[in-house]
Amino acid sequence: MFLSNCNACHKEPLFSDFQYRNNGLSVNPFLNDSGRAHITSLSQDRYKFKTPSLRNVAKTGPYMHDGRYETLEDCLNHYTGNITNMMNIDPLLQSGSIPLTAQEKQDVIAFLNTLTDYKFLNDKRFADPNFK
Ligand code: HEC
Repeated sequence: MFLSNCNACHKEPLFSDFQYRNNGLSVNPFLNDSGRAHITSLSQDRYKFKTPSLRNVAKTGPYMHDGRYETLEDCLNHYTGNITNMMNIDPLLQSGSIPLTAQEKQDVIAFLNTLTDYKFLNDKRFADPNFK
């Protein structure tokens, strides 16, 4: 399910292709964040954001560049029914939605939960030295 719907952008092994893409998030009028175009000033970069890694994603909410989604379920609901067809929308999402049933969404979330690396997260070598 993940390989056929998500892996084109969230590519293994790091679950990112390190590209800038527009995954159809409606523009937040309070932030009006133009994304990559803020750096390049190119109109073809408007509303593109770096594909984030999905490693440890269950622990890294809130999600998207502006933190608009609280849960992984919100993220899946975005892809299945809330994609905005806007300028520079990624060709892969131009159809307007990734069709997944409720069960399939739960299955993808179950997969995302397997990307949590507790050993890494609890490794004191990577901890905040001032954390008590
Ligand atoms: C066309 C490329 C593309 C496809 C296909 C795609 N994504 Fe994404 N995804 C992105 C981009 C780009 C972002 C970052 C958007 C932002 O920061 O505003 C993102 C963000 C996310 C996030 C939020 C991560 C975070 O740390 O904020 C999750 C979770 C996610 N995608 C899961 C999925 C899943 C699951 C699928 C398949 C059902 C999928 N994506 C398909 C490009 C894609």
